[in-house]
Amino acid sequence: MAKLAHAQWSSKMAFVLAAAGSAVGLGNIWRFSYLVGESGGAAFVLVYLACVALVGVPILISEWMIGRRGQKNPIDSMAEIAEKSGKTKAWALVGFSGMLAGFLILSFYSVIGGWSLNYTLSAVTGAFNGQDADSISAIFTGMLASPGTLLLWHSAFMLLVIGIVARGVTKGLESAVRAMMPALVVLMLILVGYGMTTGHFGETLAFMFSPDWGALDGGVVLAAMGQAFFTLSLGMGIMMAYGSYLGEDVNLLSTARTVIILDTAIALLAGLAIFPIVFANGLDAGEGPGLIFITLPNAFGSMTGGVILGLMFFLLLTFAALTSAISLLEPTVEMLEERTSLPRVTATIVSGVAVWLLGIAALLSFNAWSEFLIFGLNIFDLLDTFTAKILLPLTGLGAVVFVAWRLDRKSVEEELRLSATGLSVWNIIARVIAPIGVIAVFVTGFM
Ligand code: PHE
Ligand code: NA
Repeated sequence: MAKLAHAQWSSKMAFVLAAAGSAVGLGNIWRFSYLVGESGGAAFVLVYLACVALVGVPILISEWMIGRRGQKNPIDSMAEIAEKSGKTKAWALVGFSGMLAGFLILSFYSVIGGWSLNYTLSAVTGAFNGQDADSISAIFTGMLASPGTLLLWHSAFMLLVIGIVARGVTKGLESAVRAMMPALVVLMLILVGYGMTTGHFGETLAFMFSPDWGALDGGVVLAAMGQAFFTLSLGMGIMMAYGSYLGEDVNLLSTARTVIILDTAIALLAGLAIFPIVFANGLDAGEGPGLIFITLPNAFGSMTGGVILGLMFFLLLTFAALTSAISLLEPTVEMLEERTSLPRVTATIVSGVAVWLLGIAALLSFNAWSEFLIFGLNIFDLLDTFTAKILLPLTGLGAVVFVAWRLDRKSVEEELRLSATGLSVWNIIARVIAPIGVIAVFVTGFM
């Protein structure tokens, strides 16, 4: 294995927390439970778990493997291990598209992280208290209509991200996830505990877990696959970058299992926390993006203890967004650090400011530039669509195809530490099933 040249996670635990910190985000807190409710409850959960195993795991492990064997930023890790395996350095493009995806995604993710910060403060100051549904909607639309407000919170969020990432892998990333991930779990458990007291917990359990096999169709399978990809932060160069700080002693398969169990558990807990509040207040579970920023504040504003619960909820959301955001910036910072003579702090400021500027274009999509369309999409939606539908699947596909078909066998065996049977199973999944799954999502994404 390559000589370990640069920063390393201080322990296996730190790595698990960082990977889980990246994985746990809006995808868990809102998207997953909503999909479960819409797509057949337990039936969806089972299909989702199958997709995680057959598509998520091989790509996650491929990305970690690329990073660990390359010990560099995604571009150079790919170039180097491709060359060592006697393959063309053009494979570096896979690292590049992942890094680019992370960079572009952070620009609009930070805008949403800013909403979350703003709502945390609003919850503290009791801004939702005693407001009727219309005035709560008006708070949200008012925020979107105001470039100044959006800019303020987007800037505050990016400042936090830059502050954490600039401090480096152990002092910055690790300390942040060590503090925020346990807090997130505790806050989530308290909210689930509250959900149990609402008298609507049974309804939530039925909503989330009673299987409706009739709801299963191709569309549900594709949604499950898309969620597996998104929820594990795949295709963004993140797991490659995080893998590059990984020592030889960590077993990739068992680590993948831990991260996936954590990510799925948080997603299920989020559902158990959110839906009792939704049902208890007669709100619409299928509300869509408004659920978190309009519907829930509405509920918090009208219930006893709502100030505290609302504060906990938005704080949790902010933590989840922050630990994901730092992972989005890391690949670019690592690349600048290794490729230029810039010290870590400067590399972080340079890439953070670039992301921040692009984020301004994204936030103006909600107001001043809402009429400015490219391919019929405003800048925010364009960034979202271009990354989700094109860059992420292509990067994920490239990573798993490279590891399964092009990386020398000896390296793969060294990394996976599997029996002969285990290796055959890996080969079938990584060579055939996962690529077909990603291609299916990619192609249908255009239809
Ligand atoms: N994995 C995150 C989630 O489930 C999504 C994410 C997207 C994380 C982009 C980092 C970057 O919400
Ligand atoms: Na997730």
